[in-house]
Formats: sequence, structure tokens, C-alpha cells
Amino acid sequence: MPDKFYLTTPIYYVNARPHIGHAYTTVAADTLARHKRLLGHDTYFLTGTDEHGQKIGRSAAAAGIAPQQFADEVSATFRDLWKRMGISYDQYIRTTDAKHQRGVQKLFAALYERGQIYLDSYTGQYSIGEEMFIEGPPGTIGPDGKPTETITEENFYFRLSAFQKPLIDLIESNQLEITPEARKNEVLSFLRGNIAEGSETLLSDTGIAYVPGALKDLSVSRTSFDWGIPVPSPAADTTEQKHVIYVWLDALTNYMTAVGYGDDSEEGREMFARFWPADLHFVGKEIVRFHCVYWPAFLLAAGLPLPKKIVAHGWLLFEESKMSKSRGNIVRSETILDAFGSLKPDAEKYEQDLFGADVLRYFLLREISFGQDGSFSFDALVARYNSDLANGYGNLVSRTLKMIEQNFDSVVPESGLTTELTADITIAIETMRTALDRQEFTVAVAASAALVATTDGYLTANAPWKLAKDPTQRDRLAAVLRTAAKAIRIVTALLYPVMPYTASRVWTQLGLGSIERAAELGELTDLTHGGFAPNTRLGLLAPIFPRAEKELITTMNDAEVKPPATEAAEAEQQPAADPNTPANLAEGEQPLTPLSDAPAPAAEAPAKPDTPEITIDDFIKVDLRVARVLVAERIPKADKLLRLEVDLGYEKRQILAGIAQFYEPEKLIGRKVVIVANLAPRKLRGLESQGMIVAASIGDGTPALASFIEDIEIGARLK
Ligand code: MSP
Repeated sequence: MPDKFYLTTPIYYVNARPHIGHAYTTVAADTLARHKRLLGHDTYFLTGTDEHGQKIGRSAAAAGIAPQQFADEVSATFRDLWKRMGISYDQYIRTTDAKHQRGVQKLFAALYERGQIYLDSYTGQYSIGEEMFIEGPPGTIGPDGKPTETITEENFYFRLSAFQKPLIDLIESNQLEITPEARKNEVLSFLRGNIAEGSETLLSDTGIAYVPGALKDLSVSRTSFDWGIPVPSPAADTTEQKHVIYVWLDALTNYMTAVGYGDDSEEGREMFARFWPADLHFVGKEIVRFHCVYWPAFLLAAGLPLPKKIVAHGWLLFEESKMSKSRGNIVRSETILDAFGSLKPDAEKYEQDLFGADVLRYFLLREISFGQDGSFSFDALVARYNSDLANGYGNLVSRTLKMIEQNFDSVVPESGLTTELTADITIAIETMRTALDRQEFTVAVAASAALVATTDGYLTANAPWKLAKDPTQRDRLAAVLRTAAKAIRIVTALLYPVMPYTASRVWTQLGLGSIERAAELGELTDLTHGGFAPNTRLGLLAPIFPRAEKELITTMNDAEVKPPATEAAEAEQQPAADPNTPANLAEGEQPLTPLSDAPAPAAEAPAKPDTPEITIDDFIKVDLRVARVLVAERIPKADKLLRLEVDLGYEKRQILAGIAQFYEPEKLIGRKVVIVANLAPRKLRGLESQGMIVAASIGDGTPALASFIEDIEIGARLK
């Protein structure tokens, strides 16, 4: 009996309706859940909504309704969408569920009783949008793009600092697995701290240095608002103020409360023992730290088992930037369900939705390399649909089945054993299943597409339409059509987790009955066995994937009405900060683009700058060095900022640069740049910028990175 498999999506905030970014994670998790069920795992798939915290409280106030009612309404939009899309979750948890609240209080109390939580007071800059204290002077622009507020709070603190080495050891040894590798390294480098010259270091179990004390204790309660779960006794009895539990401690705990943590009934205890720890948490890359640092630390502190694996995917970008309401580049799944559903005018509404959902599922998993950012566009969606589904898989099914109908009276022909396509089939099964087990969705779906292409090529090479004209070739015709039908059966079973609705339609046309039933009976577990029973009669044939015309693109574009600027600003879920505001620039860095919309001045000889004179001693203080870019990537919620890792030869640095609008991150990798190497580090977006990239400012402020004609070795100093 295969093991149990418990997998989760993040629980989504209820301050905005779902868009295809949320659908992306949910579809990936749903596909994996279906795959695991097919293989016979005792699978449990959890999703839900995150409903507490100041952000939600304020959204509700802005909407003029009570937070609970607000949460009810938005949470329902997520649930309704998942229903339309046929998402096969086993539980939809809400952080306002009573059983969840009980579980969170139980965890808080357990941590308090174990001495892992203590009361202290703190004054600092608080970002409302991100629900966190951040470093910086009053009015610092927080990660949500809004000025922080100075808050003095008596808070409960969690002893996160005590878990620096245990976490490093668990992650380095893969006992807590994090993929992809880049995200694991990001977490490790955060945990290890900034190793500068002369800093005191210790070694992890695998012998890698870290800076002790780099991980600070974490505030896990709030008194400035009350939309949250109250801190329970006995902790609550030690303070006058009413504290609510930090929203991330509340939210992360959903993964346990969903499976019985906090439910002391026999049923609750059994469920917890059966499913905890989680086998896999899917997350977007911007919430890796919460899942890979805070969450395991809470569990270690409470003496509970850790999740086995955290898989982070990249972002869906639309028109090259992360979807966000203020940019007006949100794409809703509903638009796609409606548009593709319209290709099936005779189907019931729920079937139209499931068909549209399958198209979206296929596209997201096939087109976007899991783990990396990927662009979404309606053009690409329609192009991929036509090439892979209408012309590829759909056409293969319809031409094969039509020939069986015409030549064998709709009965799948018997034929002697042929080994044709057997090797290709075995490879497709192997590749697809291994890739799904590794959450390499693109590879998995590509394997099914490859089998479609091979089978298509097989038909073209054997030209059954010619064989059909020659009565002496009847056996050969039977063998060719049987072989093609066999391959179609396998492709369909393989695609079932990816496109459950269309796979079930094809399965019926193949005369195999209900694929759901076959799956339940375990008939799809080992695909190398079984097949067509003698005299299998095809079902009713009908086109599966009608061709999509160009107009569908226009229909979808028109459906995504761009919100007017003011409405967008109000409705913004996670507004993009303007990295040009001084607090978002590395020290000394100048804004890269004008802050006003005033037109750029006409070209004329530049005016002599009015800069104060300095001596050579002043200049020599600036340590300018050549460095090579190793990593370049966009930063969550900052459309102008790139995160770079650069190699100076003698050490590596992380630098945040406001050049995202001018340089494609991929194109910077490997490039040599000039950096100010002795600039005091500062934090931007919670990330440390250890230096600054030097660039000329041309025209209206467009940056041009300093570079050399000669091949300069890295680490070389400019003086
Ligand atoms: N409530 C927290 C998560 C708590 S989990 C204990 C949260 N919610 S969220 O509504 O902001 O959802 C974030 C998640 O939605 C991302 O981690 C990702 O899974 C998904 N996505 C939202 N926008 C996305 C894209 N544009 N692209 C890809 N995934 C995106 O964070």
C-alpha cells in the first residue's frame, strides 16, 4: 500500500477576488493530488482562505461591512471558482473556522508553556500591508509601498533566534526539503546571516559558516487591532492589553488544524496521526521565508514533526509584470472558462466550465516552467490550445476513432501482438510519472505531448487510410489502428490528472466507460497492464477540442476590463511600491526615473552640474569594484527592483538595484558590472542590499550600466 500523501496550497487572502495566479498554485496541487490518488496513495488535499489581520480588517472597513461578512463573501468567490474548475480538494479551510481558532490557541499556549514565547515591548516601524515590523526611520516605505507607522507595542515574542542552527542543519541535510535549489539557497543565506570580514562565525553540521544571532526573535501578537484570534490564557493573563495572534502564526497553523490539531476528540486525534506531517506545501516564491523559516521553527519549538517538503513556484507575469490590480493587468480564470466554454455551445454550463478549466490547466502546466516566472498571454494560450490540443491530441483521437468507426464498425479491432510504439509508451509513462513525483509539471506534460506526436507520426507513416482501400491489408489496418488506440488510451490516462474533464470524454469515446470509475478501481495505477477488452465498442464520437479562432483572443482581452486608476488604487491587494521613493533606494542611489509625469526636456547640451568639490582622499574612500552578476531576478511586489547576486572574486554579495524596467534579469546574468563595494548595507523589501550598481543616467533617467571594452578581472578596483 503506497504511503499517505498530504498536500496543501497557501491559504489565500480574502481581500481580493481570485485571479489566475491563485489558480496556478491550486491547479498544480490539484494535478498532483489526482496523480497521487491514481497511484493509490491515501491522499489529502487542502486549500482555503486566510481571513484575519489588519489588512483584511481595513479592507472590510473600506467596504463598509463587518470583517466576518467581508471574509464570508470573498472566501465564497474562491470556493465558487474552485467548484467551477472542478478542483478536487478534500477540505476548504477558513481561518475563521472555530476549529482552526481552537487549534491556533492550542499551539500558542503550548509554545508559551514551553517558554518559547515571552512578553516584551518594542517601538518600531510597522508595515500594515505586510503585517510586520521593518527596519528604518519613521515613514519608511514598507514592502507594500505605503509609509510605515511608528508603533510601540507590548508584544509576545517567539524565540526564533534559538532555531538558527537547527533550521540550517535540517535544510542543509534535506530533512526539510526545499525546491527549487535557488529558493533553498535563498533561505539558507538568510539563515546564515551576512558573513562580512571579521564577523564571528560558527559552523553548521555540514561545516558551513553562519553568523550566530543573525536570526532575531519574532513578534507573534498584535494589540493595535482586534481582527484576529485572541492570545489565550495563561499568556493573556499576564498582560492588561488584549492581544491577537500574529496573522502568519495563525495562517500557517491551518495546515495542522485542518487535519485535527486542536480537536481532542478521538476522530481528531486519529486524523492528525494519519496525515501529519504534511508531505508537501506548495507556495509562491514570495512566501518562502514564512514557510521555510517561521513555520518549521514554530513546529520545532512545539516538539511537532516538520512538513517534509516545500515547493516554491515562480510568478505568472502578464505583460512582463506580476499581476496586480493597480497595474490593471489581472487575468481572471472566469474569463478563460467563459471564452473556451463558448467553443462547446451544446454542452451544459458546468461542462463548459470544466472544459475551459482543462484548457487553462494544460496551458499553465505545459507552458510555465514550474519554479520560474512565466508570462501569461491570451495569444499564447490560444496558440498552445490550437497546436497541442485541437491539432495535436484532439485531431489524433478523432482521426483514429473515425477510422475504427468506418472500417471496423466502431469495434476496436483485435490484432496479433505488436510491439510498435511500446517503447515510446513506456518512456512516456516513466517520464510523466517521475516528473509529477518531482513536481516538474512542464516535463510531465511535455512527455504526453511527445507521445501524441509520435503516434501521429506513426499514423502518417503507416497511412491507414491507404491500407483501408486494399482488402489484402485488413490485418495490417487492424494492427495499426489498434496500436494507435492503445497509445491514445495511455496518453489519456496520463493526461487525466492534468485535464480530468476532457480525459473522461476521450475515455468514453474509446469505449472504456467511466475513467473516474477506472481510477477508483485502481485500473490506471499500472498502465502497462490492461487495455481494451475483446469487442470494445467505441462510444459516441464528437469533436473534443474545436479549433479556437483569433476572435477568442479579442473576447478575452475585452472581458478583462481595465479598472479606472482610482478604483484600482483602492482595490489594490498588494500595491507595488515605487522603488524610486528615497527609502527604496540603496543609500546614495538616485531615482532612476523622474517621479513626475512631466515630459523629458528636449535634447540640448547638458548643463554643468553644481556638485561640491571633493579631494582625492574623499574619492578614495569610495571602493568601486568590478563584479560579475551570478543571479538576477525580480522582487515580489517591486516592479522596478531587481535582486542581484554578484561575485567580486573575494566574496559574493546581494545587491538590489532599481533597474527592472530597463534590464531583463536573464540578460544580466554573467555580465560584468561596477559596484560601490563599501556602501553600508541597508534593507529594502526585507532584503539586504550590500552595495550599489553604478550606472550612467541617460535621457529621461534611463540607466546604462557601467562596463568596459577590455576584459577586466572581477574584483578589480576603479581609482
Ligand atoms: N495568505 C497568504 C498565505 C498564507 S499560507 C499559510 C498569502 N495569500 S495570497 O492571497 O497573497 O496568495 C499568495 C499565493 O497565491 C502565492 O504564494 C501563490 O501561490 C499565489 N499567487 C498569487 N499571485 C500569483 C502570481 N501572479 N503568480 C503565481 N502565483 C501567485 O500570501
